[in-house]
Amino acid sequence: MKMNLNIAVVGLGQVGNYLLNELNTKKKEIELITGKRINIVAVSAKNIKKKRKFKVNKDIFFKNPLDIFKLNKVDILFEAIGMSDGISKKVVETALRNKIHVITPNKALISKHGDYLAKLAEDNNVNLEFEASVAGGIPILRTIKEGLATNKITKVYGILNGTSNYILSEMRNSKDSFANVLKKAQKLGYAEPGNPKLDLNGFDAFAKVRILSALAFNTKISKYKCLMEGIEKIELKDIEIASQLNLRIKLLGISEIINGCLFETVHPCLVSKNSYIGNVSGVMNAVILEGKPVGESILQGEGAGPGPTSSSLLSDLLSILKGDIKKPFGIPNNKRKSIKCYNVNNYTNSLYLRFEVKDKPGVLSRITNRLAQYKISVKRMIQTPDKKNNKATVVIITHKTSELNSNNCLAKFKKDKDILKYPTLIRIHN
Ligand SMILES: NC(=O)c1ccc[n+]([C@@H]2O[C@H](COP(=O)([O-])OP(=O)(O)OC[C@H]3O[C@@H](n4cnc5c(N)ncnc54)[C@H](OP(=O)(O)O)[C@@H]3O)[C@@H](O)[C@H]2O)c1
Repeated sequence: MKMNLNIAVVGLGQVGNYLLNELNTKKKEIELITGKRINIVAVSAKNIKKKRKFKVNKDIFFKNPLDIFKLNKVDILFEAIGMSDGISKKVVETALRNKIHVITPNKALISKHGDYLAKLAEDNNVNLEFEASVAGGIPILRTIKEGLATNKITKVYGILNGTSNYILSEMRNSKDSFANVLKKAQKLGYAEPGNPKLDLNGFDAFAKVRILSALAFNTKISKYKCLMEGIEKIELKDIEIASQLNLRIKLLGISEIINGCLFETVHPCLVSKNSYIGNVSGVMNAVILEGKPVGESILQGEGAGPGPTSSSLLSDLLSILKGDIKKPFGIPNNKRKSIKCYNVNNYTNSLYLRFEVKDKPGVLSRITNRLAQYKISVKRMIQTPDKKNNKATVVIITHKTSELNSNNCLAKFKKDKDILKYPTLIRIHN
C-alpha cells in the first residue's frame, strides 16, 4: 500500500461532518499507528451553503458525489448519506468498481445489499468495512470477524436500538407516557424529529440483527422477517406492572440457529431486573454472544451518535491502512451459506398477558378457560379492579407456550365484548 492515501467523505450530516473533523484533527495519530498519511481530497453533501458544526473546505466540495470519481485519485471513500438504495448504493458500487476501499455506517444499505456489495469488493480486491452499521461505537463486528473468528457462535442478541432503550428506561424513571417520553427523546436528539418510526417499530434493530447473523453464522444476509415488533404498543402500565414483578421491558434483537435454521427476531422482552441486560439503560446498546469455546461474551457501549459512530469508522480506516484486503463478512463470499428460516409458529416463551376487562362475574373464568383450551397454563395472575369505572386489569404470566398457540388463543378474545381491547402480549426472555 502507498504511503499517502487520498480520502473522500460523502455525506456531511451528523456523522459525516463529525467524522471529517476527526480525520482532520487526528492525522498525526493515524500516521503514528499505521505509518500512512491521509489527505482529504473530496467531500460531498447536498447543500454547499448549509451551516455545519465543523468547517468544510469548499474547494474540495462536490454537489454530485459521483463527480468525485472523475478525480481518479481517491483511495478510500466514506459513504455517510444513509439510504438503502439510490445515490448511496450508486456511490458505493461505483467506488468499489473503481477499486476504491469503502467504509460506511449505513445499516440499511448493508442489510439489503451487503451480499452483492461484498462480492463486488472481493472481485475488485478492495475492502468494504461497515463496523459502524451495528451498535455504534461497540466494536462488535470486528470482534466476531477477528477476536472470535474460530468460535462456533450459536446465539447473538442484545439491545441494538438506543432510541427504544432510552424511551423504555425513561418511561420507567419518570413514570411518563410513551408519547411524552418520545417528545423528550426527540428534543434531546435521541429520536429523529420528523419520522422516528424506523427506530420504534423494530426495523432499525432488525437491519442490525441481519448483519450480525451473517457474520456470526457465516451465512448470506437473510431476507426473512421471522418476527419484528417495536415498542409502540408498550404502555406505562406495563412498565409499572413489570417493576412489581421484578422485571424490566427491553427491546431485544435475537439471532440464533435452531435445528439448523436461522431464527431472527426483534420484539419487546421482559427480563429480570437483576440480569445484566435488565440494567443496560438509556441510549446504551449491549450485545451478548454465546459461542464455543469462548462461552458468553458481552460488549456494551453507546449505540449511536456521531462520536461513537466516528470511533468505529476510524477503526475501519485504521484496519484498511494497516494493509491486507479483508473479506467483508470474514470468509470468502462464495463460502457463505444460504440458510432456511425457523418456523416462527414454534417459537416458545412464557408470556405476560394483560387484559383490560369489564369488572363483572364470569369474565376471568372465560379468560382462563380459553387459555386452558389452547393448553396455555397459568403460572401467576394479578387482578387490579378499577371500581370507579367498573373495569379491571388482569395480568397473567403463563408457562411456556408456542406463538401458534398464543396467536390462535388471543384472536378468540376479539369477539368478547367484556374484553375492552386486544390483550397486550410481552414475551419473557428465557
Ligand atoms: N446519526 C447517528 O447517530 C448514526 C449512528 C450509526 C449509523 N448512522 C448511519 O450514518 C449514516 C448517516 O447518518 P446521519 O445521521 O449523519 O444522516 P444525516 O444527518 O441525515 O446526513 C446525511 C448527509 O447526506 C447528505 N446527502 C443527502 N443526499 C445527498 C446526495 N444526493 N448527495 C450528497 N450528499 C447527500 C446530506 O447533505 P446536506 O447536509 O447538505 O443535507 C447530509 O450531509 C446513515 O447511514 C445512518 O444510518 C448514523
